[in-house]
Amino acid sequence: MIPLPSASRIVLLATYFAARSDIESLTTLATHHTKVLRQDLLLRILLTCLPETLPPSQYVSLVQRIESATFDADGEPKEVDWSSVQDITDDEAAKKVRKLRLLPLTSDNAPEDASNDPVSLFLIHRAHRVDQEAGLLAQLPDLIVPFLDHAPCIRTWMVSTLLPLLRRDHEYYPHHPVAKTLADFDRMSDQAAVDLLLSQTGVDQESLPHVGRDLRGLIGPWLYNDARWRRGGDNDDSEVQEHDPSGTICPGWEHVLEWITLQASKSWQVAVKAIDQWDGPGDVDLGGYASMWLEDEEQEYLEQRYARAALASAYLISEPSLEALNGVNSIITKIMALLDQDPCPTLQVASSLLPPFADINGEQLLCAKNATYMRNNLLAESNPLTIPNGTSTQLLHILTLSAFILTKGGVACTVRKAGELAFLQDEREQKVQATKFIHSLSNNGPKSDDKYWIRARNELLWLRDWGAEEAQETSDIRARGIFGQLDKEFLEVECLKAFLGNTRYSLARSIYEDAPEKPLDSDMLRDTIVSAAMNAYDNASNPHRGRGGLLKCDDIIHAFPQTLGERHIASKRIEALLRATHALSEYRLILKKGEPFTPVVLRVHTDPISIIGKVLEQNPRSYTRIQDFLEIGANMVDAGLLANGKSKHFESGAEMAWQSIAKKRITAMCVDAALTEDDFETAYSYVVNRLATDDSRSPANPGNELASKGTVIMTDDYSWKAALQAGKYRRTARTMKPTHIGTASGNLDIRHLEQRIECLATALRIAPPATLPEILNVFRKCEEELNAAVKAEEAQESAWDEQGDLQVMPGAFSSTVPAGVVRNTKAASSAARHADEAPMSLFDLSRASMARAQRNLTALSSLQRSENARADDARGEVGDQPRTRKRDQLRDTAVSTLASGVGWLIGAQPVDRAGDRS
Ligand SMILES: *[C@@H]1O[C@H](CO)[C@@H](O)[C@H](O)[C@H]1NC(C)=O
Ligand SMILES: *[C@@H]1O[C@H](CO)[C@@H](O)[C@H](O)[C@H]1NC(C)=O
Ligand SMILES: *[C@@H]1O[C@H](CO)[C@@H](O)[C@H](O)[C@H]1NC(C)=O
Ligand SMILES: *[C@@H]1O[C@H](CO)[C@@H](O)[C@H](O)[C@H]1NC(C)=O
Repeated sequence: MIPLPSASRIVLLATYFAARSDIESLTTLATHHTKVLRQDLLLRILLTCLPETLPPSQYVSLVQRIESATFDADGEPKEVDWSSVQDITDDEAAKKVRKLRLLPLTSDNAPEDASNDPVSLFLIHRAHRVDQEAGLLAQLPDLIVPFLDHAPCIRTWMVSTLLPLLRRDHEYYPHHPVAKTLADFDRMSDQAAVDLLLSQTGVDQESLPHVGRDLRGLIGPWLYNDARWRRGGDNDDSEVQEHDPSGTICPGWEHVLEWITLQASKSWQVAVKAIDQWDGPGDVDLGGYASMWLEDEEQEYLEQRYARAALASAYLISEPSLEALNGVNSIITKIMALLDQDPCPTLQVASSLLPPFADINGEQLLCAKNATYMRNNLLAESNPLTIPNGTSTQLLHILTLSAFILTKGGVACTVRKAGELAFLQDEREQKVQATKFIHSLSNNGPKSDDKYWIRARNELLWLRDWGAEEAQETSDIRARGIFGQLDKEFLEVECLKAFLGNTRYSLARSIYEDAPEKPLDSDMLRDTIVSAAMNAYDNASNPHRGRGGLLKCDDIIHAFPQTLGERHIASKRIEALLRATHALSEYRLILKKGEPFTPVVLRVHTDPISIIGKVLEQNPRSYTRIQDFLEIGANMVDAGLLANGKSKHFESGAEMAWQSIAKKRITAMCVDAALTEDDFETAYSYVVNRLATDDSRSPANPGNELASKGTVIMTDDYSWKAALQAGKYRRTARTMKPTHIGTASGNLDIRHLEQRIECLATALRIAPPATLPEILNVFRKCEEELNAAVKAEEAQESAWDEQGDLQVMPGAFSSTVPAGVVRNTKAASSAARHADEAPMSLFDLSRASMARAQRNLTALSSLQRSENARADDARGEVGDQPRTRKRDQLRDTAVSTLASGVGWLIGAQPVDRAGDRS
């Protein structure tokens, strides 16, 4: 018989077999020496000596034997090969065994309830070592799964520790393994563990579809562990009291919620995906290794906190996009489902329904002080906005819908921004946003679609009171939407402006004019229409009435027949403005260098009539179209563009005066333009036919002041200057020839001088006193020239007579008379010259000179009559009748000129010139 081997030798041999992974021999040895190789010693030998690389499948059965202590030698007992310890003495063996330093089964982070269970301790310690020494984490299920039923702590450890880490590193993110060992992970704080498990979750677009999976497959199992929980009474952690009155808290869970809310503020999609893809703490994938074990109370706690975090996330999402807001709404929907509430509609649907918000509890929440809860302490139990109940979800939904409507309309808005508008009710800020919203409606969306605008208006009004008015059907209900501080009228006006700005005229009429319930009173409606029309006008670049802004303006004022009929003063003014502008469009017109004329320039011009002057300058021979320009001028006055018309109250007396002066000024401009272009004939004809005949001076108001209303005194300084200018014009080679001589003098020089005198006579008649000397001076010189010309012609005539036949003409006195004219006008003009120096003596001199002048002009006329008659007879041209009329006219003009021009100066009653002329 072989002597019984010593215990040391047995142990030594066991370590030898273990180190060589000879499980079979080790099993045989253990079977033979159950006394020595007791459970914990065997386990320590396995733990210490068995190579960590050995697949667990090869030694699980041995561990199971050790677990169940069943080492019966089934079948025939095998022999043990002692050869490896053959040459070692027992003493040496004992020494070696002492030096073995077998590892203890306990590891420093072993579960508490495993402390008296060698097998559990072994399994966990062994798992740590396999991972640490061999990195074979993936093989560990082979080691642990056979022992799931061994003790609850093994199942718990498997599910809550090994499974999450294994999934994280080998299944979910094999390319981004964590740099921690299983043992490290086991030792980690709850926070660190959560951060580690979620470190790859949602980091890029590819991982977005898997956020829910990670929560379900990593966090869910990880929570499956009592060690994650702290119960009320265990400690007096103030946090515990804060979160749950019953005092239960799961710090790891709290950290998961913090993680979700952090995602909401920095990468909202992750938060939305998390909540969307995951049904909350009940939605857990334990890999089939266990089933849920949570108490109702714990489950309730997890869900309540989760719902709060979800609501908090909604307020934290800071991206103002439709996508993000739809994400928020999906969060709300999810939470409503979790809380067993009726689901809310999608934002798309809600924005077409525009549901009333009539939650009395929600209304109480809406005060400025509660706004801070959107920013701070979102997860705190005391936060009334994130408390998971119907009030908070409804309020959040309505805020989200408000933000959605704004964003859809082009004004990017977050839930929090909408919340601030609703909570703080700051009128200025609301106005800014509302105005932006309305403006941007015009830039986005199908502008020419009436349905779009009807909807936009409904939305705008809904944003003001969240449908409260409709819901309660009383008008004194406090409006408390995000535009709650704004007057309904303000919004309606802005809406109307937008309609008109986008050519929705009939829509505007149907809502604001035709509807039985008028959203705006008629004054406000009219003002808005007019200002919209003027906006369109001012924005126009083309002065053509059938294009762009002017067309819009035109359409707008005609779109509201009841509010703004054709006879309304505002319509008339705008109509006149359009006409004036349109008429200008036919001409070349550049006011500033290189800048073509735009309508608004006309409207704001301080001296709009002067624009006509520019047209005359820039368009050759345009002065011939004087009628056009007079109409333009009249329209400018009717449009209220001239100084007094800028006030609202239009006094008809003043208007007539403005009309008159505009007419004179424009005529004068045309005269000047004609002279500039050497078209004396036209200038002359304007002077005698227009300036001379049109006279607005009424007997009661005989001066040059056409009208004086308050401080407005209008003086016609244009007519006489133009007439004088024409009178000064001297014929040159460039002067355009009269197109037909007609009945006028055959001698062009004489004819021209006569015409000039006529112009000067007109000037005399209408000029202010101080200017008379100057005009008389010109007049005198002109007459001298005329006399000379007449004489010369006479001389020529008589020479001709003498040469030719012996026809005798009357007029022997003719040679003396013109000299008298000269003398007399000389006297008059010297008198006038004196007037400058000695105004007191002017009275007598003027009267005297007038009387003489009158006589002498009569003489002049008879002289001319005889001369002309002779000339006509000589040429055998037209009959005497028109000639006579012409001469009478000239005489009349001159006489009345002096009678009025000098007469009124000296205080005499003016002659009734109308009678004179007829
Ligand atoms: C804030 O909300 C709470 C909770 O609904 C409400 O009772 C309170 O009146 C609101 N206002 C203030 C100032 O706290
Ligand atoms: C929700 O909670 C708030 C704050 O505690 C409360 O004022 C409100 O009445 C609750 N709403 C519902 C529907 O329970
Ligand atoms: C102003 O004119 C521009 C281009 O001329 C046009 O695009 C714009 O819509 C106009 N705005 C309004 C309010 O009419
Ligand atoms: C004025 O005309 C009359 C004839 O009507 C003439 O006798 C007289 O000499 C003229 N001149 C003066 C200064 O009277």
